Amino acid sequence: MQSSLVCFNAACRAHYGIGEVIYNCPKCGGLLEAQYDFTNVDPAALKRTWRERRMSNAPLDQSGVWRYRELFPFVETQANVVTLREGNTPLLQSKRAAEYGGLANITFKHQGFNPTGSFKDNGMTAGVAQARKLGMKRVACVSTGNTSASMAAYASAGGLEPLIFIPNGNISYGKLAQALEYGAKTFQVDANFDQILALVRVLTERLGIYLLNSINPFRIEGQKSIVIEMMDQRDWRVPDWVVLPGGNLGNVSAFGKGLREMKELGFIDKLPRLAVIQAKGASPFYEYMKATSKGFNAEVHPETLATAIKIGDPVSWPKAQFEIEISNGTVESVTEQEIADAKAVIGASGIGCEPASAATLAGIRKLKLGRDADIVAVLTGNVLKDPDYIYRYHTGQLKAPDGSPIKANFGNAPIVVPNDAEKITALLK
Ligand code: F0G
Repeated sequence: MQSSLVCFNAACRAHYGIGEVIYNCPKCGGLLEAQYDFTNVDPAALKRTWRERRMSNAPLDQSGVWRYRELFPFVETQANVVTLREGNTPLLQSKRAAEYGGLANITFKHQGFNPTGSFKDNGMTAGVAQARKLGMKRVACVSTGNTSASMAAYASAGGLEPLIFIPNGNISYGKLAQALEYGAKTFQVDANFDQILALVRVLTERLGIYLLNSINPFRIEGQKSIVIEMMDQRDWRVPDWVVLPGGNLGNVSAFGKGLREMKELGFIDKLPRLAVIQAKGASPFYEYMKATSKGFNAEVHPETLATAIKIGDPVSWPKAQFEIEISNGTVESVTEQEIADAKAVIGASGIGCEPASAATLAGIRKLKLGRDADIVAVLTGNVLKDPDYIYRYHTGQLKAPDGSPIKANFGNAPIVVPNDAEKITALLK
């Protein structure tokens, strides 16, 4: 069997060439996924090889994505790969955050340590490799900010022209700044994320531009490396739960596929349960899974200060549903206040993350997963992605999208003092 693209729809399962420029099944419209011939994969040998590569000076071995390339062997020539040494993100512990989440211990897999500060780099290095393999000159995406920052960097590093479409006024300045600095042609559109995705799909089709949103199956292949690296770092001990925020639902789809493949190939002996956490004002998947809604609608405008996950019509929901069900997982939603407080607790642990990432700890607290549960929460973005939010929270100025104030329960406002040693000494006594 050769590598191929396969329709994810169980009733269709049509196969296509791995080099076809398609994002949905031409027959039924289903999502696509990459499938490989894994018959020669030897888990014990690969576990050793991957450890050895950590000592290597070869760029691909140093990448925390391409180190694991045997589990996503779609690039025939390594010359197509552009690496900024993505991945290699740490597992971090915090007693304080664990306590807040009702746990004895918690482990954060911090994807904010990536070159552009989010987990998108794991997928983007893979998507850009495929774009180069296909001979594409231009790449495009719609984004709530992180995908665009990442795509801008990898496309520019790889000699491709990045075209970015973002919802006007709805992404953090840190992320917009990255897109501009990394040289992307940036369009601000007066529409929501879901509407702009439809627009970008028309434009990429019409102009022969390669689409690098997470509907692109090669992005998903790269993002599998997050859970592969996590298992490698844990010496292959499977946690009880892997918890992550959900927006367009590409990441949970990638985690689920990566974990299933590792189990089928014998790298791990069971699947961890997956928990997806959404912001209450942007929780279409939560509503759908709890059967309080029937479907998804791009015309419903989601609202959350966690702008990274401000999405109302997630494209990867069929994959996400499958992965949640097969792993006996769950979906939860959390309020703006819960996200803000969890974020401040992660910050006060010396770790820090962006708002969407903190939904994980807020969700864990709400889900009451059991004090001794072994939990990995994935912090998807860096603390500096959205400094405006941080300043407002700590100074008691943060307001939810509906205008209601968010309490600075863990506030830490700066103290304005005169240039006077006596007065400051008095404050510090
Ligand atoms: N966390 C962060 C920091 C994100 O940027 C995103 C998605 C998610 C979580 C949700 O991941 O979409 O795979 O479910 N950001 C996308 C973007 C949509 O455009 O940057 P998902």
